[in-house]
Amino acid sequence: MNFELTALPIQDIESDLEVIIVVDKNLKHFFVQDKKLLKKAGFSCEQDETCLLVGKDRLYVGADSLRGASIRTAAASALKAIRGTGYHSIKVATYTNKGCSYSIRAMVEGFILGAYSFETYKSKKNKSKIQHVTLSLENYESKAIEIEKASIMVHKAQIIADATNFTRDIVNTTPDDCYPAVMASIAKSMAKDVGLSCKVLKPKELRKEKMETLLAVARASRHKPRVIHLAHKPKNPKCVITLVGKGLTYDSGGLSLKPADYMVTMKSDKSGGSAVMGIMKAVAEMDLPIEVHGFIGAVENMIGGDAYKPDDVLVAKNGKTIEIRNTDAEGRLVLADVLCYAQQEVKADYIFDFATLTGASVVAVGHYTSSIMGNNKEIQNLVVKEAHKSGELATALDFNPYLQKTIKSEIADICNISNTRYGGAITAGQFLNAFIEKKNSDKWAHIDIAGPAFVEHAWGENPHGASGAGVRMMIKLIETLANKKD
Ligand code: BES
Ligand code: ZN
Ligand code: ZN
Repeated sequence: MNFELTALPIQDIESDLEVIIVVDKNLKHFFVQDKKLLKKAGFSCEQDETCLLVGKDRLYVGADSLRGASIRTAAASALKAIRGTGYHSIKVATYTNKGCSYSIRAMVEGFILGAYSFETYKSKKNKSKIQHVTLSLENYESKAIEIEKASIMVHKAQIIADATNFTRDIVNTTPDDCYPAVMASIAKSMAKDVGLSCKVLKPKELRKEKMETLLAVARASRHKPRVIHLAHKPKNPKCVITLVGKGLTYDSGGLSLKPADYMVTMKSDKSGGSAVMGIMKAVAEMDLPIEVHGFIGAVENMIGGDAYKPDDVLVAKNGKTIEIRNTDAEGRLVLADVLCYAQQEVKADYIFDFATLTGASVVAVGHYTSSIMGNNKEIQNLVVKEAHKSGELATALDFNPYLQKTIKSEIADICNISNTRYGGAITAGQFLNAFIEKKNSDKWAHIDIAGPAFVEHAWGENPHGASGAGVRMMIKLIETLANKKD
């Protein structure tokens, strides 16, 4: 999909279809030319409601406000509504921006995210046909948007939405087509394309690095594990960020096998690692003046005669012993070793990990929101704020000393599950905290994306399947750090 910016008024632009985003519930605004027809069609201007007037080649979309989040999902809904039609190009006025180029960014992101479909396994494809989008910068409100500023925003939006779709594609790919070695080769070819460095550790190197808990989780799978290290190293970086992602290409639960209904969708347990890949791609393409490292633990959790067991005690890379009481709490074991490795390899100012870590996070905050944990309220708040600016939802969950006690072990240093059914997102976060070095304690935040990573019933700008959760929020955060005045 390519985008063109013009100062021409909308009626002078040649295009198959005009998209009109309407915020005024009374349809009074002068650009709503089809008030009568819209009323007849029952268009009530709800957020994301669409009404296609085929004879007029106009598509109306409702929005609750002019805020980025509303414009983004309205734009996505527009593209969803015209999938399967014969339209190839659209034009849209940007009066919704009130002189602010930020909502151009939201609109362009919405178009690209809304046009996404995953059809690798369909014999009959139904891809979005929209190839050309013309944005009219004709000035309806008092302030004009400069074309130069707007085109920078369009370019950024394209990078961010493409990175999100790149992540969605990886997550949506089936476990037998996307196993750890495949994750590593996707990382390698992406790194080559955008100019990142990429190092892949295979079992021999993982053993040398004493990543025995990760290796134990991987043991029963015919697909051998990989740890992937991507790096973006600009000259004179403003700061250094480490990202760590859970890349369980499949989570059967292991010997603590998941019930049948819970196992379906567990190809999405690689969402954290896939998000890290998407973020790294965008950081490189935007050439942000920050050094960013991405570490991904790619592992498959299976059953078999060689499987690790409840009752085992494993030794993590940092020497801590872990009593295993449930092999389905495997993500924290993989992350423990990768977090230790990442801290050994890079001295960072910020450490973020992304993981579909717990069903408890979904219970706590719902399907639409990521939960943010850590020891530093300021960093947690920063993630929440930047997530909201990017169009993602996030909320902070606090650690506490009572829950900390529930992951004590009678026979080892720590237990991989809590002794209580409640507060599971937090106890998982507190488990990870045991693998964060003291000196990094205040630099780290854990992002549980179990809720939004995989969408069963389409919502917002997301169709069924992977959403790319974590990608937009972290790119926004890194951009904010890049723009910070020293
Ligand atoms: N990958 C799952 C968590 C998950 C559940 C992600 C639902 C997305 C949707 C994780 O490895 C897991 O199985 N966690 C267990 C932990 C429990 C055994 C302490 C869970 O959440 O039930
Ligand atoms: Zn699990
Ligand atoms: Zn898992």
